[in-house]
Amino acid sequence: MVKSVQTSETELPSGVKAPVQETLLTPRFYTTDFEAMAQTDVSAQNPELQAIVEELRADYNRHHFVRDRAQSDECWDSIDGETRLSFIDFLERSCTSEFSGFLLFKELSRRLKNQNPILAEAFQYMARDEARHAGFLNKAMADFNLSLDLGSLTKNRTYTFFPPEWIIYAVYLSEKIGYWRYIIMYRHLESNPQHQIYPLFRYFESWCQDENRHGDFFKALLRSQPQMWNNWKARLWVRFFLLAVFATHTLTVFERATFYQSIGLDPREYNTKVIQETNKTAARAFPLILNANHPKFFYRLEQCSDNNIRSAEIEKSHRPRIFKFCQKLPLILSTIGHLLQIYLMKPIDAESLRGTVH
Ligand SMILES: [Fe+2]
Ligand SMILES: [Fe+2]
Repeated sequence: MVKSVQTSETELPSGVKAPVQETLLTPRFYTTDFEAMAQTDVSAQNPELQAIVEELRADYNRHHFVRDRAQSDECWDSIDGETRLSFIDFLERSCTSEFSGFLLFKELSRRLKNQNPILAEAFQYMARDEARHAGFLNKAMADFNLSLDLGSLTKNRTYTFFPPEWIIYAVYLSEKIGYWRYIIMYRHLESNPQHQIYPLFRYFESWCQDENRHGDFFKALLRSQPQMWNNWKARLWVRFFLLAVFATHTLTVFERATFYQSIGLDPREYNTKVIQETNKTAARAFPLILNANHPKFFYRLEQCSDNNIRSAEIEKSHRPRIFKFCQKLPLILSTIGHLLQIYLMKPIDAESLRGTVH
């Protein structure tokens, strides 16, 4: 069982890490309408899906997630203070989000087995990959004398219900942004080896190919459902999901600035690059993408992040709740205003970029 909320790992020398408090920014656990997912007719993208399942079956990374002996034996006390806390936070959030993917894919694979074997098989392989990723991150946490109790996390977390279409939009984006987050970090450390202070990042090059394949699977799934991209309603949803994912990413990166600085990455540059690349990639699946080149696009996202950091400061104070709420209200309104303005920026038509109008 997870012990009561304790934030200092020194109180849990070889113990179980108490999970961070659930907030809007902590990775969510999802459930969906499994029956509706099972009924999904994917025949319009059958050749693409078969090709991806073939790739997933080949299991290119089956020998990749093996920890080097030296890493297990090494003492990581050199990573200390604020850097250590931000490292643990990074590992925990990443592990939770990989594990959340595992749970969803595993359940989808189990429930779709009889009615939709091709999707069930793909979900089974993707669950395998996510379990490896989560397990590997949990072992990395052990280097800091901590681990996450994944069994109890499964039972105790709140599950958010998303209809299948939302799952497809959200997971597609989270796989693609995951790919860019890992590969940009990997390439940065490859060209700046002096910042390679912990061996986990060396694994990211092949690791992110798993996420890329998962994203490609969701892209084929999405394109097999014309109502998810060929009408005005779909276009509004796509704008919403792009904005939600980019805003969450910005807030998380700036909240965890110490972590990125500790590996020599400038949080602002990193955030900008990840979002620009993910947005460009999304043009292959979505009918439109956001205009990330708009002069106010990143300014507004960063203002939301400033508001978030200031709100967190207010929340930490010991003032009465109503007082804190009144202090936070202008910040909340400002964030809503910025998000709305980004949402209303003229998007870029991706269907015409692709040159295929179906
Ligand atoms: Fe993963
Ligand atoms: Fe993935």
